[in-house]
Amino acid sequence: MQQIKSFLNNRIEVCIGDITTLSIDAIVNAANSSLLGGGGVDGAIHRAAGPSLLEECRQLRSSHYPNGLSTGEAVITKAGNLPSKHVIHTVGPIYNPNDPAMPELLASCYTTSLTLAAEHKLTVVAFPAVSTGVYGYPKSKAANIASDAVIAFLKKNAFPQKVIFVFFKTKDADIFLDNAGFPQ
Ligand code: APR
Repeated sequence: MQQIKSFLNNRIEVCIGDITTLSIDAIVNAANSSLLGGGGVDGAIHRAAGPSLLEECRQLRSSHYPNGLSTGEAVITKAGNLPSKHVIHTVGPIYNPNDPAMPELLASCYTTSLTLAAEHKLTVVAFPAVSTGVYGYPKSKAANIASDAVIAFLKKNAFPQKVIFVFFKTKDADIFLDNAGFPQ
């Protein structure tokens, strides 16, 4: 993992690498509403976690989420064979330029995930760039929404103590840093 920048007295880090390699309290999964895996970072997390994660997600579906997890919501599970302790699964919005609810839905992914982290007193949580892959959210717009949501949450909450934004590709990290609303 390569750290490239930090903000807010080191409470926010921007890194480049594979989120499944992080040995921290929780990594966030850009899931879909089925919670039963998929491609992208969802696929990478389930591959690295192994079958126990899918089994826990199946149990969540049959117990609390028979219709699946709604967009903008988040759930926390254990992490199977991953080095992290937990996985926080959140469902990002599928980008629709004609839907004015897009920014609040994407922001909600970060806020609900951070709320779960705070409830569990987690100290370090890492996010992938939710919705900016298969779900097509423009990376520049997502950068502003994600950074504003995280800053707003951290300013009001002691936990988590650190949030890491993890980018798989260097160019994605560059777009993020060019558009994020971090105080310089
Ligand atoms: N570590 C960090 N980031 C990753 C990794 C990884 N191992 N793999 C992919 N990414 C990045 C992608 O490059 C992208 O910038 O995660 C970001 C989110 O992309 P997606 O995984 O496609 O997630 P999203 O756009 O939210 O679409 C979710 O895709 O994979 C399916 O099941 C998933 O249906 C859901 C949808």
